[in-house]
Amino acid sequence: MSIERFELAAGLTICRILNGMWQVAGGHGRINANLAIQEMLKYHDAGFTTWDLADIYGPAEDFIGEFRRKLPAQQTQNVQALTKWVPDPQKITRQITQASIERSSRRMGSGTLDLVQFHWWDYNNPYYIDALKYLSDLRDEGKIKHVGLTNFDTERMLMIRDVGVRIVSNQIQYSIVDRRPEVKMAQFCKDNNASLLTYGTICGGLMSERYLGRPEPASSDLDTLSLRKYKRMIDAWGDWNLFQTLLSTLRNIAQKHGASIANVATRYILDRPAVAGVIIGARLGITDHRDDNARVFTFRLDSDDTGSIDDICSKSNNLYESIGDCGDEYR
Ligand SMILES: NC(=O)c1ccc[n+]([C@@H]2O[C@H](COP(=O)([O-])OP(=O)(O)OC[C@H]3O[C@@H](n4cnc5c(N)ncnc54)[C@H](OP(=O)(O)O)[C@@H]3O)[C@@H](O)[C@H]2O)c1
Repeated sequence: MSIERFELAAGLTICRILNGMWQVAGGHGRINANLAIQEMLKYHDAGFTTWDLADIYGPAEDFIGEFRRKLPAQQTQNVQALTKWVPDPQKITRQITQASIERSSRRMGSGTLDLVQFHWWDYNNPYYIDALKYLSDLRDEGKIKHVGLTNFDTERMLMIRDVGVRIVSNQIQYSIVDRRPEVKMAQFCKDNNASLLTYGTICGGLMSERYLGRPEPASSDLDTLSLRKYKRMIDAWGDWNLFQTLLSTLRNIAQKHGASIANVATRYILDRPAVAGVIIGARLGITDHRDDNARVFTFRLDSDDTGSIDDICSKSNNLYESIGDCGDEYR
């Protein structure tokens, strides 16, 4: 089975399913470092060579460094490791920016970072523009290949474009349930040669056979931060009955294609405008869905499939109205 790939930017081709590393940061079960690194080697061997991580995801950057050291030398060039820089809102200087990037490079064992996705908690603090200019300088000096964003809204992306900062991607929540990117963000990205990297696409695992036909779980029944995060999103979107209708529709589509519910949920978002890749969280050394997720690349949805999904979504609440544009849930 071959994994679809996408040229995110010059010299950076990624897998269209990326391995998400938030799950090693705590709140998703105890991670054993040795087991996790062994598991990373298996992902790589299976063709899942692209990792999404952040400076704030616990040991994730160190895991990338250790994983690279364990790979055969000729394979290290075939790894794509997309990190994030998530500074506290403060006055950002060139020194702060450079020190953060150098720290990530050291941890990840990489002279040039493939992509730094910048997150900013507070738009009222204007130093994010300075931070992005310093990141662009570091890119021009060869310390970073490309600059991206995470959780930025369309209005700020426009401002960032207008000050001349070149952005290749924005990482945002996007799923059949949370379709806010379709209001403005996707079109902006298409018009400005930027791509979307999505998370929450299978709702922490809620969008799978495991929750089909199950009574509504209480928050205390959900054992990862991710499940609890996206259960709140489903509550805002509609209710458990509507979600069950969605799951059984996805199951019927999945059966037609010899695939799983998670596969259909992933394929649906991969085929949306401006989407470069879907990030699927990996609980390294605890669970493994590699074989199932590889099936995403074996089928395509037809218009009956997408029509029946869209019919159910037309009965849901409008998350753009209740939450706002992409990333507003963090602010
Ligand atoms: N930029 C941001 O603010 C931000 C925020 C959140 C996440 N992210 C990124 O996105 C990544 C994904 O995280 P997420 O929270 O959105 O989680 P997610 O990808 O929606 O869910 C991951 C969970 O789904 C389950 N799963 C995976 N494949 C499956 C399959 N084929 N069938 C059934 N279940 C399957 C697994 O649960 P089990 O392990 O229980 O089996 C896995 O732990 C993170 O690691 C991170 O890199 C970024």
